[in-house]
Amino acid sequence: MTDHAFPNDFVWGVATSSYQIEGAAQTDGRGESIWDRFAKTPGKVIDGSNGDVACDHYHRFAEDVALMKSLNVPAYRFSIAWPRVVPEGRGAVNQKGLDFYSRLVDALLEAGIRPFATLYHWDLPQALEDEGGWSRRSTAEAFVPYVEAVVDRLGDRVSDWITHNEPWCASMLGYERGIHAPGVVDKARAIAASHHLLLSHGWAMPVIRAKCPGARAGITLNLGPMLPASDSAADHDAARHADGHFNRWFLDPVFGRGYPEDMVRDYVAGGFLPAGGMTMIEPGDLEAIATRADFLGVNYYNRSIIRSEAIPEEANETPVRALGPERDWTEMGWEVYPPGLHQTLMRVHLHYGPRKMYVTENGCSYSTGPNAEGRVADARRVAFFREHLRAAHRAISDGAPLAGYFAWSLMDNYEWERGYGQRFGIVHVDYDSQVRTPKDSAAFLARVFAQNAVPSD
Ligand code: FCB
Repeated sequence: MTDHAFPNDFVWGVATSSYQIEGAAQTDGRGESIWDRFAKTPGKVIDGSNGDVACDHYHRFAEDVALMKSLNVPAYRFSIAWPRVVPEGRGAVNQKGLDFYSRLVDALLEAGIRPFATLYHWDLPQALEDEGGWSRRSTAEAFVPYVEAVVDRLGDRVSDWITHNEPWCASMLGYERGIHAPGVVDKARAIAASHHLLLSHGWAMPVIRAKCPGARAGITLNLGPMLPASDSAADHDAARHADGHFNRWFLDPVFGRGYPEDMVRDYVAGGFLPAGGMTMIEPGDLEAIATRADFLGVNYYNRSIIRSEAIPEEANETPVRALGPERDWTEMGWEVYPPGLHQTLMRVHLHYGPRKMYVTENGCSYSTGPNAEGRVADARRVAFFREHLRAAHRAISDGAPLAGYFAWSLMDNYEWERGYGQRFGIVHVDYDSQVRTPKDSAAFLARVFAQNAVPSD
């Protein structure tokens, strides 16, 4: 029995990212990334771990592709590590790095799995960070030849391209809060970083299209509802600011509206921008950022409940504090809130009008491991996917052009500053033996993929 049948051409998949799974950090000429440096800086990662080995996917990709095939996975979203391809950030291209992705793509196609390649999922070459990283325009400039090299090599076999993953995280977690690499706490630099990330997206789009005729290209943003904690005017204003910081700051420019004026005013008032506002914008920048994309990628995890006293601008803190009604929380401390996926997709559809949307990430962290029989009975993850898929289905019924859904993640992996303790995979990974064990959620999604529908039982 199934309900919630999806459109015939709906794209189902699973997602990963390079630093979180590949390992082989010093292999075949890979350069240092900001995550290598950050993870090895004492105190930055909760369990002191790093991505040197991770899931050793670099050496085990064939096994991982076979695993996906056995789970009926139709599409795979992975990311390419810039420092594997251009170890110093700009200049010499490392063919061995490209060879790896070429082998991966061949294996995927051989298995009948459609590759979706993300060009930047946070592993900036450290050499570029040494010059100021994303807060410098020169990093956006360096992104273009890197993209050219990748698409030149893979564009004959990969047609689906995502320029950036979650520029909010790359800029704000990396340069404002400093809890992600490169660990900078400087809001002015974070705002500059957000512009340069978006600018590099805009510059990459025509390069992808020129090198790969027939390409479908877009950007992935992390989005979610920001709700006021009370009816007070102050809480409403705090929610407006949080929404501006997290959602609109990225959506507005990508959809041709420039940066939201209320946020520019707030940042000027807070001393994070000069009186002239976004003075780093040069002629043509906003037009580049607004290059019409083929799709918008939406990563959805949760909502936030916002109250006014959580806006310590002077402390460089984003005013996000979840005070949601006690319901279900994952081990990340994130509320399980499936209606937020429907709300987010509908909001983007109604207010911004993308051609298409893909949910490029959605998932949850529960540490359920194998029981005595070796089975991973992650019932809470199954329930999480079932509810979120129903919410996605409802958005399609309500007219949203949702064209695909990628579960985060194929397998347990390195969860950034949270280390290996947080497990988002539908496949369990034993990090000592590197044994992969599909969880019950993998069996559930395998049925979804095969039936193009959400089983009702
Ligand atoms: C997203 C990231 C992804 C993963 C999930 C849990 O913000 O894109 O790499 O860490 O969160």
